[in-house]
Amino acid sequence: MSLNDRFADLHRRHAEAEVGGGEERIRRQHKAGKKTARERVELLLDRGSFTEIDKFVVHQSHDFGMDEQRILGDGVVTGSGRIHGRHVYVFAQDFTVFGGSLSEAYARKICKIMDLALKAGVPVIGLNDSGGARIQEGVASLGGYADIFLRNTLASGVVPQISAIMGPCAGGAVYSPAITDFIVMVKNTAYMFVTGPDVIRAVTHEEVSAEDLGGATTHGTTSGVAHFAADSEDECLALIRELMTFLPQNNMEDPPIRPTLDPIDRRDENLQTIVPAQPDRPYDIKDLVRTVLDDRYFFEVQPDYAPNIVIGFGRLGGRPVGVVANQPAHLAGCLDIGASLKAARFVRFCDCFNLPIVTFVDVPGFLPGTAQEFGGIIKHGAKLLYAYCEATVPKLTVITRKAYGGAYDVMSSKHIRGDVNFAYPTAEVAVMGPEGAVNILYRRDIERAGAQGAALRQDKIREYREKFANPYIAAERGYVDEVIEPRDTRARLAGALDILKTKRDTNPPRKHGNIPL
Ligand code: HXC
Repeated sequence: MSLNDRFADLHRRHAEAEVGGGEERIRRQHKAGKKTARERVELLLDRGSFTEIDKFVVHQSHDFGMDEQRILGDGVVTGSGRIHGRHVYVFAQDFTVFGGSLSEAYARKICKIMDLALKAGVPVIGLNDSGGARIQEGVASLGGYADIFLRNTLASGVVPQISAIMGPCAGGAVYSPAITDFIVMVKNTAYMFVTGPDVIRAVTHEEVSAEDLGGATTHGTTSGVAHFAADSEDECLALIRELMTFLPQNNMEDPPIRPTLDPIDRRDENLQTIVPAQPDRPYDIKDLVRTVLDDRYFFEVQPDYAPNIVIGFGRLGGRPVGVVANQPAHLAGCLDIGASLKAARFVRFCDCFNLPIVTFVDVPGFLPGTAQEFGGIIKHGAKLLYAYCEATVPKLTVITRKAYGGAYDVMSSKHIRGDVNFAYPTAEVAVMGPEGAVNILYRRDIERAGAQGAALRQDKIREYREKFANPYIAAERGYVDEVIEPRDTRARLAGALDILKTKRDTNPPRKHGNIPL
């Protein structure tokens, strides 16, 4: 073979690999409203930055006529590229090749880039679109999944791992994305479930569509499995690019600084009135969060799941931070099972990847009810407490209004290593609200007072409110470092963050703690 023939042969192989399952299956993929694996990779990465690995890998199975059907690449496109100039490893499942189903060779391709990512300290992004285990390969495919699950687990907390779900993702295959840090789902074309509608119909006689069972809206609002629900594939991939701007490459790095023209000492007079004087009047904590952050930009995570707590990313003086905030506009900002799980996982993510945590507190307590108690609010609330306690990144806290009972302790209080804890003059740090306290302390006196009972109750509530519903008793004990005016929040937080950028804190040596799962 001449040199030219050899080069032509190489080009032919490249071209063959690049059409995956062929033009007809690509046409079907487009008709279903989905892009191909390669189109997705191009959109995800900086233009022209993709370097493919294992493009010529084929499966090794012979059964079911598979030796007649070998497709270069074998259904998954893997390699590295850049997002905003920073390296990432990526795999994209190719539904046009055997429905994107996972073979032994395919799993080995994913494992190879995960091993490289772990060694190089580079994030891994997986684009999922697959019919699950390659049926023709049987147990070899199951082994391949397990090899990936192990790597997902070993990479957890070392490099960021992000999963996009852009088609089917069912059965045990869901557990790879589930172990990763963030899941982005595309509305209407993506679904995730352990058992599908047919199995459910047969076993429990429930009728449910794939979309209702495991679509982006379901997992973004009801189950909390997904962190983002995107309207389109383009939006999904753009969202991942944006998310990456807040994250370091690995656990040994700080997140990237993005310089801002927004003055660090910007005093915002609007903040003075965001928290109403009336303790029971709701307000949107996101207005406050946005006002404080650089350029008023808040990148919210899980916006539609457990909206009584708000989590997301922003920057202060260019430095990325994770924000956790009770939301008085939903369930009065109570902590419940969903809110505890949502915030606990986020706090742990921030702690893994050196993102300081800024907590805004306005919490009347834990949500009462049998559903909460039977559902295990004790162990789920404990997860949030545990997550805050073990976190060693800088922790800044602002008590805007209520900080009652156990929820006060949980929400990044001084006692669990809050580094800088501010309170507004509207803050109420107490065991419980005035009404509840008076009902317990003066129940007998109120009963005895007969017709005057209601008036006595009101007097006692007023007395309790004046005495306890303020930040000063906590400030007297040093539980609050300073009572600040709301308009100074941005400057004070940014100042604290600047000092704490060299913070060092550790937990006792151990194999790992035993978070109440
Ligand atoms: C091999 C598969 C496949 C699979 C799909 N294909 N799934 N090949 N193994 N698991 C092939 C089809 O034969 C077809 O090939 C092509 O992919 C596209 O499939 P269609 O059915 O035509 O597409 P669509 O109508 O869009 O339906 C997609 C689907 C369906 C819903 C994913 O294909 C499906 O139900 N597949 C089986 C899913 C499944 O049961 N997987 C195993 C689950 S157990 P041609 O040649 O016609 O293009 C599992 C365990 C994981 O995954 C274990 C982890 C621990």
